[in-house]
Amino acid sequence: MIVYDKGNGTYTLHTRRTTYQMKADAHGVLLHTYYGPRLDGEDLSRLIQYADRGFSGSPNELGRTDRTYSLDTLPQEYSTCGVGDFRLPSAEAEQADGSLLLDLRFAGGEIRAGKYALEGLPAFFGDSWETLSVRLRDPHSGMEAELLYGVDEEDDLITRAVRLINRGKETVRLRRVMSFCLDFRGADMDLITFDGGHVRERRPARAPLRPGVQSVGSLRGTSSHQHNPFVILCGHDTGEDHGLCYGAALLYSGGFLASAERSQFEDCRLVMGIHPHHFCWTLAPGETFTAPEAALVCSPDGLAGMTRCFHRAIRERLLRDPCRGRRRPVLINNWEATEFHFDADRLVGIAREAASLGVELFVMDDGWFGSRDSDMSGLGDWTVNEKKLPGGLEALVPRIKALGMQFGLWIEPEMVSEDSELYRTHPDWALGAPGRPQARGRAQLVLDFSRREVRDHIYEALRRVLDSAEVDYIKWDMNRSLSDVWSAALPADRQGEVYHRYVLGVYDMLERLHRDYPAMLMEGCSGGGGRFDAGMLYYTPQIWCSDNTDAIDRLTIQCGTAFCYPAGTIGAHVSAVPNAQTGRCTPMETRGVVAMCGTFGYELDLSRCTPEEKETVRRQVQTYKDRARLIQEGDYYRLTDPFYEERYAAWEHVSPDRREALVSLVTGSARAAMPFLALRLKGLDPARRYRVNGGELFGGAALMYAGYPLPLFQGDYQAVQLYLEAVD
Ligand code: DGJ
Repeated sequence: MIVYDKGNGTYTLHTRRTTYQMKADAHGVLLHTYYGPRLDGEDLSRLIQYADRGFSGSPNELGRTDRTYSLDTLPQEYSTCGVGDFRLPSAEAEQADGSLLLDLRFAGGEIRAGKYALEGLPAFFGDSWETLSVRLRDPHSGMEAELLYGVDEEDDLITRAVRLINRGKETVRLRRVMSFCLDFRGADMDLITFDGGHVRERRPARAPLRPGVQSVGSLRGTSSHQHNPFVILCGHDTGEDHGLCYGAALLYSGGFLASAERSQFEDCRLVMGIHPHHFCWTLAPGETFTAPEAALVCSPDGLAGMTRCFHRAIRERLLRDPCRGRRRPVLINNWEATEFHFDADRLVGIAREAASLGVELFVMDDGWFGSRDSDMSGLGDWTVNEKKLPGGLEALVPRIKALGMQFGLWIEPEMVSEDSELYRTHPDWALGAPGRPQARGRAQLVLDFSRREVRDHIYEALRRVLDSAEVDYIKWDMNRSLSDVWSAALPADRQGEVYHRYVLGVYDMLERLHRDYPAMLMEGCSGGGGRFDAGMLYYTPQIWCSDNTDAIDRLTIQCGTAFCYPAGTIGAHVSAVPNAQTGRCTPMETRGVVAMCGTFGYELDLSRCTPEEKETVRRQVQTYKDRARLIQEGDYYRLTDPFYEERYAAWEHVSPDRREALVSLVTGSARAAMPFLALRLKGLDPARRYRVNGGELFGGAALMYAGYPLPLFQGDYQAVQLYLEAVD
């Protein structure tokens, strides 16, 4: 609910459990007055104090004698640039005279039913939203900022986005546009970021805010394996189930910046948006620039409560899931089994074995097109390699379908190999400045997706393939970071637009696929989890989480990922042992339990498995089918912290009505004389009794407060699953 109080001028945004408030003061500065646990909406600007602070000057209209009012000390909704606030600016606009000054003052607000839409950008959607649009204007240049707030009351989610509109007479150059600014009174907080690298993504790093600015971001043109566009601010004492925390997720798949500043007066400012490095957008009079959306959750009951809000909102109001209301198919992908070396019979053999064990979708990965026998060639030539697959998809797909399976296809549309017909014909379609040889990544170059004709060409080629057979799924991969970002289609003074135009181009292609193939499931991928972000999830409701399929490493990678993103979005497969990334051997049972915390599937040659392993696979597939709704739609609880607890990792999925739960537990390397352990469960109904794995009955309260006794495990990396069903 959004309330405008005419009497005191406050705009108050209420969700079920939180309240957010702002107010334009007498000088037209839009003050941020509160974000926290729900309040009744009284005017909280009275908490703001004014004092003469040295080196924090005052706006001109205050005159020379009132020195107590300073932009440098006030909490604001969207900070200005160069006019007396010396903390992080939200936007920077280079005016025609070369100045970088932007003073934004209140010019009106409007409350609307429904959710605003952002042209060409991903955004949360749904019927139950309300929108607040607030206009701020720079009286000198005519630049206007439209601050957009979406309120999803039920999920405790507030979205923010910004449009910058040039209502002046001169062209301006935007150098920085953050999607939101969030000021906090008091900086005694921890910042949690999710960091890592290829094959070790999204490990939480938590540290108290120190004086000055601390940032994470990506200069790679993608959201990146290294840092995720999701951060948390919380109290020093905030824990899993208690304390206040704020989560912020940016719906953007390109280079981003998240900066938190602890100011001299121990306040905190958090901003997040497109990375300003190499960003410069020319805005002619009358033009608008739209910054990507961000989603905010404030949780009064710790990190777990925040996670569950994001999970529900993403599941219900961000994923455009062709499988909505149905279970996603259990898949097998041939990559780790064959890499580039296969023919139709080999693929059908893998699919047949998988189908006999209950697997439902066969995915043909890299190597099916052009002259692609290694990663040195072929990208850009999206025609079926008839040497490997005579008769093309027209011949292969019916053979897969005859097994009762769906068919899926891997693509990497953004890339080009120098050894390809496409590159030989259009070398200028790759990003790269004239006369300067480009850096390679995985021996490939990046196509200039900021250009419409490049996208159109790739799209038409893909369409021909997709229309040649019934394709139920695609995996959109992207295997390098952007370098040499220069586009032949733009003049020298507009090259700062290419990074962002590239992302818009990727979104345009994904949107076309979504529009033309609405029933086709899309999985995102960037060398595993290099583009695992909320923006991508709008187009691809599942994302391959990591190229590291080692079950023990996946415990932490998936746990870090699930701080924001729900299980149904996390691509997770059982692969062969010794694991290709780590050389570690884990039992098949354990690999299955770990992969069931995501979109379950296999990535190995099942014909090489022993009869016992195949029997395990058959059971796993059935278990997953039986429990998929619980995993994909239930509430997720972290029962241990796998980043610190080495003896075992445990997590739980609980159905919304709390009548069912699935508890999964995986042990670390074997230890002698293990203590007797009882695992305390969460989220159950204390008043109900639950039957555990079809056997003994336990009270919900007993399971949560006293725990469930764990067996004394023998051997490394063991796993158990407990299925709980309420009996009363
Ligand atoms: C990287 C992906 O993450 C893998 O799963 C696989 O699709 C390869 N690319 C294929 O080149």
